[in-house]
This record gives sequence, structure tokens and C-alpha cells, in this order.
Amino acid sequence: MERNCRALKERVGDRVELCAVVKANGYGHGAAVCGAAALRGGATRLAVAAATEAEELRLHFPDVPILVMGALTGDELRAALAARAEVAVWRERFRELCSRVAAEVGHMARLHVKLDSGMGRLGERDPEALIALARRCVHDQRLDVAGVWTHFATADEEGDAFMSEQLAAFAPVAEAVGELASDCTVHAANSAATLRDAGTHFDMVRCGIAVYGLDPFGRDPTDRGLEPALELHSYVADVKRFERGASAGYGRTWRAPEDTWVGVLPIGYGDGVRRGLSNNADVLVGGRRHPLVGTVSMDNITIDLGRETDVEPGAQAVLIGRQGSERILAEEVATRLDTINYEVTCGISQRVPREVIE
Ligand SMILES: Cc1ncc(COP(=O)(O)O)c(C=O)c1O
Repeated sequence: MERNCRALKERVGDRVELCAVVKANGYGHGAAVCGAAALRGGATRLAVAAATEAEELRLHFPDVPILVMGALTGDELRAALAARAEVAVWRERFRELCSRVAAEVGHMARLHVKLDSGMGRLGERDPEALIALARRCVHDQRLDVAGVWTHFATADEEGDAFMSEQLAAFAPVAEAVGELASDCTVHAANSAATLRDAGTHFDMVRCGIAVYGLDPFGRDPTDRGLEPALELHSYVADVKRFERGASAGYGRTWRAPEDTWVGVLPIGYGDGVRRGLSNNADVLVGGRRHPLVGTVSMDNITIDLGRETDVEPGAQAVLIGRQGSERILAEEVATRLDTINYEVTCGISQRVPREVIE
């Protein structure tokens, strides 16, 4: 993660800040450890989606700017501001609430005014309304316009024209808000936009997926100089002889086509190995790929070790990562599930112990 951040910083240059997005427990990797690695690699800010995430990070990073990007209830806003996090604003009622809560917590609220330039989620659609909101923030002594920002809907679709349309809508609003609030940070790019178009970088980029060494375009991350940070390991708990026709797992969805050996691994959908991988994944054991056979259970999976095997109980099994010269990328797992790498790592459950290797 540290090296990935360094590579991103090199790409954006000295004048552009890197904000590492560590929401959802650092995309499943562990928020605090990712935050620390990202900061070592040159990130100067962290971003999350929820107030509770900001509160947790604040304990680890007393002085780092933390942006809460998501919508907040009144109580959540109180928690976020008490944790000295910066928050997103786009509605007048919420701006007024920020002002009141800032008085309660006893310090200025740092706000990032958000334009919905086409994502159709959070943010104000009307550019003039957003500029007027920023002006009211500037005139309120309890509020500080710390940023103006937007988010792209199609940055990961190379060659699409919509990102440029969003950029064209955002640029004049960013300029107008920048004139009102001189120390305001302009930001728009996620990982895909950062890698795709330097015109999206402005003052800061908000990178998540690339920080973890995963490819925002769903391909091989090493092609872009990114290094996957996470591996998902289990082990072979038992090895069994299966006679032709014997079945493994719920529903008997796999039957041995010939006499074979089957390995039982104590990991399942309760750990985030999705049931959609039933009869639809490979696992590395002994440096070789073995097909996952049968239905993924909550706590176990089974793999076909073949007619002859030297695999013994206790052997390491790799569901995501490298073993010998073989590797399984989160992107491969995502393709098999018809989803994105983000969902694969975010889905690794709390039950899986995270071991940090530096
Ligand atoms: C508003 C916002 N900005 C930035 C990011 C980071 O995106 P990515 O992980 O694609 O770099 C996200 C993540 O979904 C986001 O919601």
C-alpha cells in the first residue's frame, strides 16, 4: 500500500495531494493499518463514508485531516465534528445544522460543498445553488469552506465521454467556489480518473481501490504498476479419498467424475467466500491450482486435489494471492462472480483474522 501510494503520488505530482480512501474497513483490508501505510507512502489525508469510521481513525491519527464523504444524520454529524472530521454539505438545512453543531462542539466546521455533476447520488445538482450555499458558508463564522468536490460515475469506463461532461460541469463551479474561499481544496478524481486523465486531478485526488493495489478497470493491476496488498489464506484441514460418483457438500452439486482426493478447507461464505464460487473457483495448494468443487458452505469448501496427491492436512491454501509461480487475483474472483474487485475484498468478513506483514 505504501508503494502503491508512492506510485500514485509520483503520477499526480508534488502539487496534488493524495487522499487515501479507507472506508469499509479499508476496503476489507483494515482501516487503521491501511491509513498508516498510505500516510507513509505520501498520502496527506484520509477519507471515509461514515462518522463511526472517522471516530475510529481519529484515535489512530490525531492530526491527519479526515473527510467523511457520506450523508450524516444529526447525531452522526455531531460525532463527526467532535472527531474534528471534515464533512460533505450540499443542502441549506444541513449547512445550518453544521453551524449549530459547530457552536456546540466549540470549533469551526470544515465543509466540502458537493456538486452532483452527474453521479445522481449525493450533492447539489444546480451549480448556482451550490455557489450560493458556499457563499453562505463563507459568511458564517462557524463554518469554513475547506473543499469543493464532485464524483465521477463512469471513470472506470475507458473511452466514455460522460466523465468529460461531468468535468466540464464541475470546473466552473470549482473556480467560483475557489474565488469565494481561497484555501478551499478542489477534488474530483477517484482511482480510475486519477489513472485515466490528469485533467481531473485539481488540488487533490481521492484514491481507494488503487491504494490497495487493485485495478479500478478490473484488469491485472501489475500492468499499471500496482501491487495487490491483500492475500486470503486458509489451509487444508483434511484430505479424503473419493470414489467415482461420491459427492461433496450441500445439494450434491459435484460428484467425483473418477476416483480422486478431496481437500476440505475451513473457510466459507461466513468468511466472505461467496456462494457464487460453488464449482466456480480455483484455490492454490502446493503451488498449483485446484478447482473448488461442490457448494460453498458457511464454514467450509472442498477442492479436488486429483487422482494422486502429495497434499497433506495442514498445507497452506491461497484463495487470493500468490503461491509459487501461480497467483489468483481479486479481479479473477470478481470476474467469476460477475462483480468488481471492490466487493470481493470488502466482503471478507470480520471472522477472518487480519495478519499484517510489512
Ligand atoms: C466519493 C468517493 N470518492 C472516492 C472514492 C474512491 O474510489 P476508488 O476506490 O474507485 O478510487 C469513492 C469510493 O467509492 C467514493 O465514494
